[in-house]
Amino acid sequence: MIVFQNVSKVFDIKQGKKTVSQMKALDNISLSIQKGEFFTVVGPNGAGKTTLSKIVANLLLADEGHVYINHTDVQKNPNKVKRSVGFCMRADRSIYWKLTGRQNLEYFGALYGLYGKDLKDAIEKAVKDVDLKDRIDDYVERYSSGMKQRIGLAVSMLHDPDILVLDEPTTGLDPGISSEIRKTIRRMVDNEGKTVLFTTHMLHEAQQISDRVAILNQGRIVVNDTPAQLIETIKPGMVLEMKVIDFNKDFLHTLKQYPSVTDLYYSDLAHNELLLRISCSHEENIHEIIAFVSNHCRRLKDIKKEKASLEDVFISVVNEGIDDDGNAYTFKH
Ligand SMILES: Nc1ncnc2c1ncn2[C@@H]1O[C@H](COP(=O)(O)OP(=O)(O)OP(=O)(O)O)[C@@H](O)[C@H]1O
Ligand SMILES: [Mg+2]
Repeated sequence: MIVFQNVSKVFDIKQGKKTVSQMKALDNISLSIQKGEFFTVVGPNGAGKTTLSKIVANLLLADEGHVYINHTDVQKNPNKVKRSVGFCMRADRSIYWKLTGRQNLEYFGALYGLYGKDLKDAIEKAVKDVDLKDRIDDYVERYSSGMKQRIGLAVSMLHDPDILVLDEPTTGLDPGISSEIRKTIRRMVDNEGKTVLFTTHMLHEAQQISDRVAILNQGRIVVNDTPAQLIETIKPGMVLEMKVIDFNKDFLHTLKQYPSVTDLYYSDLAHNELLLRISCSHEENIHEIIAFVSNHCRRLKDIKKEKASLEDVFISVVNEGIDDDGNAYTFKH
């Protein structure tokens, strides 16, 4: 169990030795993550996700508030909680590239006091969990980025911690590998009762895998609930997405007045090209809406109709979308 109690973190922004300003990376975060829960934090770049993760892993100190791991204060009693937490971050630089995967695991295992049969068994399990068997005796510098990510994950779980703090473990991986990694982590939650604090930019991933999702923006938790509940309360209904080419923006105003249009977001993609996301309460009006947009532009393409998703919740509370490469694009309302 992880409990954040009024946690704040401020970074000094320095020029040379002089502090020129301050950045509040976390602003009064209170949150409880239950044992056996897969909890995901999503948020735009700079929202505070890594800062939050590092504070749980005791790699950063909070300025205010407390973080408790299984009822123990992380800052007051770091040694007691060390064994309970495994931490892995994107492109983890703590892995030794000049060593093989197995040598890395032996080294980090020894740091956690594992040796002999316990170490051998732990390595075998971790290697199996991340599916690195074939390449475990190869040098890490010869690994692909997906394999490097997997060895980082194996290191974080080697000492069998109750809690895994995984900061963007799937970013930059191909969809097949990220899906495998997600399944591995989910299995650990379901079969071994692990507690997971996970961060990602991929909203479909967060929606699919998490028991609960928090959206963090500018250091604050804006919403926090199950994906289904977030969608139900913030964005029920259908969403129509389309690209509109050569148009007169005035049509957006009329479109907003349609009774079944509950919300409308758009983002300028290129000159005279818009990405439109239209929330729609009545599915039967969708054809009428498409016909209307079609009458007010030269071309329509990539029309998609889908149930509202976590992405729509995200756009609605952050006014930003994130594409599959993790790039943010601003939406206007
Ligand atoms: N060591 C540091 N010194 C100064 N500012 C920092 C430092 N670390 C983080 N910050 C600032 O704190 C804020 C939160 O950063 P953080 O890395 O936690 O965001 P994030 O949500 O992980 O972003 P990303 O999605 O890009 O990984 C940002 O404005 C960042 O610039
Ligand atoms: Mg980060």
